[in-house]
Amino acid sequence: MLKGKRVIVTGASTGIGEQIAYHLARMGSHILITARTEAKLQKVVERCLELGAASARYVSGTMEDMAFAQHVVREAHTSLGGLDMLILNHVGASYFGFFDGDVEHVRKLLEINFLSYVAMTTSALPMLKESEGSIVVVSSMAESAVRAAAEVLRERPAPRDECALEILKGAALRRRELYYRYSSTRLPLLLRDCAADLLDYLVRSRGMGLFLKIFIPLLGGLLAFYFYSAPQSFNEGMLRGKRVIVTGASSGIGEQMAYHLARMETHLLLTARTEAKLQKVVERCLELGAASAHYISGSMENPSFPEVVVKEAETSWGGLDMLILNHIGYSGSSGFNFFDGNVGQVRKLMETNFISYVAMTTLALPMLKESDGSIVVVSSMAGKAGSPFAASYSATKFALDGFFSSLRHEFVMDKVNVSITLCILGYINTESAVRAVSHVIQGTPAPKEECALEIIKAGALRQRELHYPPWVVSAVVLLRGIAPEFLDSITRSWYNVENLRRS
Ligand SMILES: NC(=O)c1ccc[n+]([C@@H]2O[C@H](COP(=O)([O-])OP(=O)(O)OC[C@H]3O[C@@H](n4cnc5c(N)ncnc54)[C@H](OP(=O)(O)O)[C@@H]3O)[C@@H](O)[C@H]2O)c1
Repeated sequence: MLKGKRVIVTGASTGIGEQIAYHLARMGSHILITARTEAKLQKVVERCLELGAASARYVSGTMEDMAFAQHVVREAHTSLGGLDMLILNHVGASYFGFFDGDVEHVRKLLEINFLSYVAMTTSALPMLKESEGSIVVVSSMAESAVRAAAEVLRERPAPRDECALEILKGAALRRRELYYRYSSTRLPLLLRDCAADLLDYLVRSRGMGLFLKIFIPLLGGLLAFYFYSAPQSFNEGMLRGKRVIVTGASSGIGEQMAYHLARMETHLLLTARTEAKLQKVVERCLELGAASAHYISGSMENPSFPEVVVKEAETSWGGLDMLILNHIGYSGSSGFNFFDGNVGQVRKLMETNFISYVAMTTLALPMLKESDGSIVVVSSMAGKAGSPFAASYSATKFALDGFFSSLRHEFVMDKVNVSITLCILGYINTESAVRAVSHVIQGTPAPKEECALEIIKAGALRQRELHYPPWVVSAVVLLRGIAPEFLDSITRSWYNVENLRRS
């Protein structure tokens, strides 16, 4: 199936990428490989030619540089005259250990492991459209990760050669997703969607291998326990006198959270860009009974703004009990629409919707540790399952899940008593959401006032995740685990595509 096909493989100087190149060579493909180290790439190309590649060449450079990503695609155009398959496999240097608050490193990894994937896809798309080609995105385990993780994890790594072949088979058959080593990838994912607390426990206790052997008989009983054990109940007094930061509090859900918290007599520090709106929200909070309320205006697109906000809490309160991260940036000129290939806009949205969340958390952590406080992260259904017309937004919300769900593990393992609540929201009737999507999405949005209260309750009860509206979101999350293709088709049926104006 792949004989004579023109394929780019990124990150092909070592590990799985190198093995993919060898398999393609045996199949007689035309191969263009990339990575940073020229000497290694040279050797891989020589071996590919020995193994029978129709042709093999390399381009060396770093994916930290967006111009390089575009250069690779241009090279395919010039030397191969087109492209049938783009295999995105490279991964930037990562360290394995507790998160040390290095926000710059997160930014760099995002550039290499995510934005360059978007840039290459965007540049290669005209050629792939012409050939009715394929894009293969390799996620998770890579050789360097295995080496780093080997000392910590008990499970033996799977062979990269076999893994590379499975990736190619999945790609040639145009499969939607490939789960290599089904029992150790797909089953944990399923468990995450059905009983996330249990999965977290198993990951931390390194009991996954043993658990999978007795998975089927145990699942029924454990699910029953998970769903029917009574949650602790909420009362408004729980938050009286607490010191809370709410970001994105000038409108929508953030504004409503501020009003609820004011009624609960908390101390409030609100942020957003628009001073005039924040002023009004603060006035209303004081009328409603807030113990104190003030604001700082500024943009979370500005990397120094998180520090200004956290410093303000430190100066005026000398501590912090709850950090509610809720703001989102503007999705660009195309707004809610087909992805227009604007990588700069994706980077900007990542800065506002993700990096600033990491920065705020890092800066506020010493105060939150002292108060045994809580972090509340407002995310979306689009951060659990892909959503059409919101690709960049969806990516930022997936990033939040990856980062904060990992951090939660580290807190528990490191005995840091700071809770992390990830709020997965469906369609809510805020002005901005209704304006952006009501002409395209079918269905009635849920009320922002109730949504805001549920977020506060979940944070106060230190819940792991909130699903709101509960049944819609839980059903989507569950379907994502057990029947992703079915979910994809019903998701697409929710949208009136004809009402979209292409930009
Ligand atoms: N509404 C929904 O249907 C829905 C669904 C799923 C998830 N969510 C999530 O719920 C949260 C709130 O959404 P919402 O509908 O309430 O949104 P919203 O009404 O548009 O509020 C967004 C808030 O963020 C602020 N903001 C925008 N850009 C900013 C920037 N660059 N720096 C700092 N602050 C900025 C806005 O104020 P300024 O313009 O004054 O800066 C505003 O206060 C978001 O995390 C969103 O992803 C909402």
